[in-house]
Amino acid sequence: MDYIRNFSIIAHVDHGKSTLADRLMEFTGAVEEREKKDQLLDTLDIERERGITIKLQAVRLKYRADDGNDYTLHLIDTPGHVDFGYEVSRSLAACEGALLLIDATQGIEAQTIATFWQALEQDLEIIPVINKIDLPSADVERIKEQISDVLGLDPDEAILASGKAGIGIKDILEAIVNKIPPPEGDENKPLKALIFDSYYDPYRGAVAFVRIFDGEVKKGTRIRLMSTGKEFEVTEVGAQTPQMTQFETLKAGDVGYIAAAIKDVRDIRIGDTITDAKNPAKEPVPGFRPAKPMVYAGLYPTGSTLFEDLRDALEKYSINDAALTYEMESSPALGLGFRCGFLGLLHMEIVQERLEREYDIELITTAPNVIYKVVTKKGEELEVRNPAQMPDPSVIDKILEPYIEASIITPNDFVGAVIQLVQEKRGIQKAFEYIDKKTVLLRYDIPMAEVLFDFHDKLKTATRGYASFDYEFKDYRPGELVKMDIKINGEIVDALSFIVHKDKAYRVGRNIVDKMREVIPRQLFEVRIQAVIGSKVVASARVAPLRKDVLAKCYGGDITRKKKLLEKQKKGKKRMKQLGKVELPQEAFLSILKAE
Ligand code: GTP
Repeated sequence: MDYIRNFSIIAHVDHGKSTLADRLMEFTGAVEEREKKDQLLDTLDIERERGITIKLQAVRLKYRADDGNDYTLHLIDTPGHVDFGYEVSRSLAACEGALLLIDATQGIEAQTIATFWQALEQDLEIIPVINKIDLPSADVERIKEQISDVLGLDPDEAILASGKAGIGIKDILEAIVNKIPPPEGDENKPLKALIFDSYYDPYRGAVAFVRIFDGEVKKGTRIRLMSTGKEFEVTEVGAQTPQMTQFETLKAGDVGYIAAAIKDVRDIRIGDTITDAKNPAKEPVPGFRPAKPMVYAGLYPTGSTLFEDLRDALEKYSINDAALTYEMESSPALGLGFRCGFLGLLHMEIVQERLEREYDIELITTAPNVIYKVVTKKGEELEVRNPAQMPDPSVIDKILEPYIEASIITPNDFVGAVIQLVQEKRGIQKAFEYIDKKTVLLRYDIPMAEVLFDFHDKLKTATRGYASFDYEFKDYRPGELVKMDIKINGEIVDALSFIVHKDKAYRVGRNIVDKMREVIPRQLFEVRIQAVIGSKVVASARVAPLRKDVLAKCYGGDITRKKKLLEKQKKGKKRMKQLGKVELPQEAFLSILKAE
């Protein structure tokens, strides 16, 4: 174990994590130039396109250090987005050290601090790396000051590097070997393996990526998952080199994968502990908690997609995404569909995009919402995951909503704009501090529902892209919230109902009907749109009918031809949903997102 080092790279998005990981693999000979794709650690296309990492993976590297010894380095990838914060914490728990990467042209940003704290919580040895020093606008001195003032680390320890130009790579590897402690553990004790990632492999079944803390696991070992007690027989153990490579055994200190012909990826819960069924460990690795969705939305089939198609696609998709939850729901307006739970908004977008792209599914997605807790006058507590199911106000004592603790880092020129935006979002200021002469760190408690809708975009706009933002769930607090319904030609469309703060209800109601008027195409009859709270109409608008002569233009009175034309037009318009006689486009369902 003296010659093993387990580490992660932590950084704000775009500070160059994947590029550096590639470079480390290349330098240690794990990849040949020719087999190198864009970025090896990000496997899925969609991740590559968006430049973000969703799935964690672990690569085994061989490195002969200057001290003449051969080391085994396990580079454990962490997802770069706040939605996957728990997964980040589990992969850090598998390490003894972390490279904290800071872009020399950007400096410390919100996720730099968030991941830094996570690494400290895990007691990791942190090696600061100032990256992208090849760029002319790199300001190494400023970053060093920040490292000292904000993180309290020794700036002289920082390694100057460029993943792109290949500068500082050897220094980084030497620092990993010399500064990060080797893993501790006892291979003679009962098996204790922490799961920090999983994926579904068509040949191996659900595969667990693990860090072995104690004991040993090999083909034939009967393993038990400690949170559920389920047992399986190991078919293969190994590590990514970066290809999946089979090994005889994984022992205390090692990082690698375990396959055991497990059919359902949901059996492999991130944070859970694998032990030996015949000789089980007494205690699991601490810190396990089941993935909990924070955001819900309805997914409904549209166009030529049938309910069954969507169900099959969700089943297949979720084999590779244990964090997604879904249950059937029926909406009077949209028919049969699913209420899906996501870790956050980005997770939702990814799921939606992949369903459409990989499974050829056409979807209508309802506006996402947080989970509300309702205390009834009888003292019962209910969890409301769908605004349409909010109980009648007459039985409600109070409604509680989730709050996040947000950190925003911004150049001081934009502080005023940020404060104004956060106040509009009902934020409560908790801290205001300068992290260097030109940069401010703000901390706020904000209702989570307020950041679901376009907050990030607005923050970027208000600060010309300079501010960064990170958050974590904090607590539930009572709020003066009301349910708003949308009526189309007098009928409530349940899928459009949402929860809004009382003080904002009028403005949001007004904006939403205006927005819907823009996106609902004109039809053969008038469409009336109303925003209502209970029986009170808050705002209304109408979409005028198509004038008769528009239709008359197409060939006199040939009614079948006209119908055909209309049919054709309909087919051309994707993602429309027929509600009674009215056709609503996808945008209408999301107009709530733009209503502020
Ligand atoms: P996420 O996966 O989104 O967290 O991003 P990342 O941190 O992995 O960053 P990535 O490696 O994808 O790099 C982001 C951008 O910065 C890309 O356009 C890279 O080409 C560029 N980049 C990365 N490292 C360097 C560097 O050392 N110098 C320069 N000039 N550009 C770099």
